[in-house]
Amino acid sequence: MQGDEEIYQVSQLYPYKLAPYPLTVEPSTENLPESLGPHDVVTRVHAVSLNFRDVAVLQEGRYPGGQIAGGIPASDCAAEVVAVGSEVKLEGGDRVSVQFNLTNLTGRERDGGLMALGGDAEGVLAEYLVFEEKCLVKLPGQLTWEEASTIACAGMTAWTSLNRLKDLQEGSFALISMFGHLICIAAGIKPIITSSSNEKIEQIKKLSPEVEGINYKEHKDVAEEVLRLAGGTGVDYVINNIGSSSIPNNIKALRKKFGTVSLVGFLGGHLGDAPRDIFLQLLFKAAKIQGIAVGSEVEFEELNQFLEDKKFTFDNAPAAFDYLISGKHTGKVGITF
Ligand SMILES: NC(=O)c1ccc[n+]([C@@H]2O[C@H](COP(=O)([O-])OP(=O)(O)OC[C@H]3O[C@@H](n4cnc5c(N)ncnc54)[C@H](OP(=O)(O)O)[C@@H]3O)[C@@H](O)[C@H]2O)c1
Repeated sequence: MQGDEEIYQVSQLYPYKLAPYPLTVEPSTENLPESLGPHDVVTRVHAVSLNFRDVAVLQEGRYPGGQIAGGIPASDCAAEVVAVGSEVKLEGGDRVSVQFNLTNLTGRERDGGLMALGGDAEGVLAEYLVFEEKCLVKLPGQLTWEEASTIACAGMTAWTSLNRLKDLQEGSFALISMFGHLICIAAGIKPIITSSSNEKIEQIKKLSPEVEGINYKEHKDVAEEVLRLAGGTGVDYVINNIGSSSIPNNIKALRKKFGTVSLVGFLGGHLGDAPRDIFLQLLFKAAKIQGIAVGSEVEFEELNQFLEDKKFTFDNAPAAFDYLISGKHTGKVGITF
């Protein structure tokens, strides 16, 4: 091992208990490898953030993806490099996360399938992790460990669902749930969030005057309310957390041309008999429906670059003030010396 001289022998972790359902996570201890392969990196995990998926896997039949029996849960973490194999370029102290789908590094592996952390690959809820360097992504410097731990799955899903902000047009709207609104605010897209809690909506609206909210329990036809909030135009992006049952309503909520519905989640039901003309609307709006499976490592690096852009140098400090006054910031605006 190179790098940190401390000997890492064991790691505390939380594998799933094997049965019965609902599963629980139980503390356990595992030995770390005595020697590292040339491309291996040992990281010490500083923060893990949970997604709905991480509780869905505990319940029988709730999670539609693969799962290792007795495996380690969770996919989103922020960690520090503490030891490296002989060929590794990362260095001790580097801040990294792990790519969610280990078979989707470049985004061009067409036959790669899914090997997702905390599902059909071991997850990250452990003190120490050993991964090959190619699966690790450097994290933006200005974020806390906790903030940085939310990017791998939650942040990436929002990023790819917003088409990585490619071809972004002025005056765009997005119908989303939680994480996506942060990217929207930073990119100048007006986010409309959905929640069953007016309290949550009010709390998020405080982040920016651009945010609108819809309580989906109070509005039977969410699309009608979207059209009202978007000044009659409709939205350019829908991030659908719920499942295919809401796709007809999503199509109705889209702008008259070129919108995208990103099918992301499975919180609600599946599509039964859709009204015949709803897919005609898809056709006339020249819109598209796309499936999202988080994203590739290359896209992860791209999102980190986007997040890094919100850092200002001391020489450029006045621009940081302008940026804060614009209300586009998503967290703290940092000035580095
Ligand atoms: N395909 C992918 O790449 C990918 C990646 C990440 C997540 N997912 C999936 O996406 C879904 C959400 O995951 P998450 O971790 O973001 O969950 P989460 O943190 O629990 O957030 C879910 C959000 O959706 C809102 N919501 C729930 N039911 C809704 C409905 N019927 N209409 C409108 N909004 C509704 C919730 O609102 P309230 O709870 O406030 O009412 C909440 O704000 C899960 O199915 C997850 O597995 C998929």
